[in-house]
Amino acid sequence: MGIRVLGTGSYLPPKVVTNEDIAKSLDTTDEWIYSHTGIHSRHVAGEGESTSTMAVKAAQAALESSGVKPEEIGLIVVATSTPDYNPFPSTACVVQGALGCVNAGAFDLQAACAGFVYALEQARGFVNFYPDKKAVVIGAEALTRILDWTDRSSCILFGDGAGAVVIGNDEPPGVASLKTKAHTILGADGKGAHFISRTGGCKDALPLAPTGIPAKTPASEPELVLMGHDVFAFAVRTLSKVARDLCEKLGTCPEELDRVFAHQANGRIIEAVARRMKLPLEKFWLNLETTANTSAASIPISLDQAVRSGELRDGMKIVMVGFGAGLTYGGTYCTWPEL
Ligand code: UT7
Repeated sequence: MGIRVLGTGSYLPPKVVTNEDIAKSLDTTDEWIYSHTGIHSRHVAGEGESTSTMAVKAAQAALESSGVKPEEIGLIVVATSTPDYNPFPSTACVVQGALGCVNAGAFDLQAACAGFVYALEQARGFVNFYPDKKAVVIGAEALTRILDWTDRSSCILFGDGAGAVVIGNDEPPGVASLKTKAHTILGADGKGAHFISRTGGCKDALPLAPTGIPAKTPASEPELVLMGHDVFAFAVRTLSKVARDLCEKLGTCPEELDRVFAHQANGRIIEAVARRMKLPLEKFWLNLETTANTSAASIPISLDQAVRSGELRDGMKIVMVGFGAGLTYGGTYCTWPEL
């Protein structure tokens, strides 16, 4: 009884780009990429696909597995850094229309790769407040659309895809349910905003025309800045600290965890986190060998794969933990599927 995940879904586009494919036009090799990241290939959104179309497919699968009807949904949150439109309408509104969730409010949430953990927390608050309503939480990204495919140090890292969960409260009506079972930490360190950034926003003033009004200028090519070493160190430090702090808050220890769903940016980051937490690597769900870093989609895709393969079962103690541009970080401890 209480707030719980009622269903999961995910979608990976069929087009696959391997490291060898990238090495045909860039000075790199499968050996370098795999040994430095743990990535062999990634899925890439194709013609007619976008963040919203992938989000819709993942959400439809989650709705189907939950048995919840689109009209029962009261809120849709899409965590993404690669919305269909920049910045409006929100991808969540496009998804709401496509799903036929006529009773749902919808908004996008931008917390980069930690976005799913942030979005889940917002939706959990909503469902807690409106116990008769259900929510869809989606992490969806078309990152390959914003990469500089001539920059070998960043374009090799990312892939596209979407994952979704349906959450709801199955307390009997009238039972006040401020007793949630999950425990969450959300945080940020804006001093590291320059570690991962993308230009093309509204930060800079436009030049003025002689009339004194802004002159319309051709938009310059947005640029992705990635300070890999700094992000790597932050990720290792933060993922292990958040997971440990969550366990400590609950009077338990990492060894008691059955599974860790950590944001997958680089396999070496996960290995270092496992060492710091003194946990065997087998406790970490790993799929980045074939998905690469799917940012906000990485945790919900992993959850869905783990549920469907039977490796994530009811009653398991898990931690979901992410970090990303901002810098953002967040983690949730729960006894699956209770939130
Ligand atoms: O989700 C948040 C975003 N994710 C991240 O920010 C990822 C975090 N960081 C990382 O995963 C790693 O820092 C990278 C994979 C990005 C880089 O790995 P690294 O082991 O830190 O390599 P490096 O940046 O120290 O580069 C070592 C060398 C350099 O050559 P020189 O200067 O030593 O001659 C690079 O130019 O490797 C070179 N290099 C490559 N060589 C072949 C960088 N990328 C490549 C490549 N192929 N793709």
